[in-house]
Amino acid sequence: MVKIRSIEVEPAIINSSCAWSSDRDQLQALYDCTYTGAVTTRTATIGGFDENDTHQVAFVNDEAHLTTINSYGYSPHPLSTYLGVITDILSSEKTSLVPERLTSKPFIISITASDAPTLREMVASIQSTLRYTPDDTASPWAHRIAIELNTSCPNISGAPPPAYTPSAPPLVDLLAVLKEEFKKDTSLTIGLKLPPYVYQSQFHDILKVIAGLSFVVDGATVNPIAFFTCTNTLGNTLLFTSQTATPSSGSKYALPVPLGGLAGHPLHPLALGNVHTFSTLLQSAAFSDLKDIVIIGVGGVTDISGVQRMRATGAQVVGAASLFGKYGPEAFQRLIDESI
Ligand SMILES: Cc1cc2nc3c(=O)[nH]c(=O)nc-3n(C[C@H](O)[C@H](O)[C@H](O)COP(=O)(O)O)c2cc1C
Repeated sequence: MVKIRSIEVEPAIINSSCAWSSDRDQLQALYDCTYTGAVTTRTATIGGFDENDTHQVAFVNDEAHLTTINSYGYSPHPLSTYLGVITDILSSEKTSLVPERLTSKPFIISITASDAPTLREMVASIQSTLRYTPDDTASPWAHRIAIELNTSCPNISGAPPPAYTPSAPPLVDLLAVLKEEFKKDTSLTIGLKLPPYVYQSQFHDILKVIAGLSFVVDGATVNPIAFFTCTNTLGNTLLFTSQTATPSSGSKYALPVPLGGLAGHPLHPLALGNVHTFSTLLQSAAFSDLKDIVIIGVGGVTDISGVQRMRATGAQVVGAASLFGKYGPEAFQRLIDESI
């Protein structure tokens, strides 16, 4: 079991935010799956993202090296839809398939916003819907909800991933909101979905900004950020249709746009490098206020060996998206059960 501030993740295997954790049925299936220790929603915005047929995913035609490329933005469903779905699932959990394995499974609600007032409103609505009752006492689900701020989607036209410029807006403004909200409620589990970084000073730059959010409560230094999810897809990549599972579709490129985010097998070494670098820096004297940040390792995990590599580089929890897209919830059994 891995504790991340107020939530407990057991087993320490989860789905990472993706297009297959978008709808009610998909979230219910992930919740009912005994091989996931938490359910991460697709990234929601306040009003829903305007999805169209330029937003797609393609799988590479190579069974041995699972690879995806996608041009998705965020979920077409607004945050309010996720709050409703999660309320329904948690309310009806006594009727779930295997209640003894599900009693503490948390939801990680992936959200994003381009400005501070919108993010403030989103966090307030999560707090009031799921973590507090109308008389302001903690709801029975207060410890079942975490927030992951997606700072790293590479597919939004005109809006580069904020975490690549950590000391500038909008990231500084969004982090200031998370600090404000955490000051009001220091039990709130908040994480950041980070992009793949490719050179050393990028890691130092983001950590310096996050370290700057620390403050003192009752003599102890605390930081609003409880976890990092490393990494999101690698942006600006391109595959030809001839490389994919649908080579006869008639189009030249795997995605109509044609650039997108790469995930799966080719991302794995970069994801491992990111997890290794963050875990080393988080345990160093330079960032001692951040030493309790838990790393959720994501990127190209497709089997038990991948899980073991993530753990050996410092991830306490391991997540997967492309594998889940290929196999559905059964994917997570592959990450735990040696007999598969
Ligand atoms: C089709 C698809 C949709 C995704 N959508 C999101 C998303 O909404 N939010 C997010 O933070 N990451 C999203 N991701 C990124 C994944 O969470 C993950 O970081 C990335 O795919 C690397 O993991 P993998 O190699 O296991 O696929 C998406 C990935 C895929 C393949």
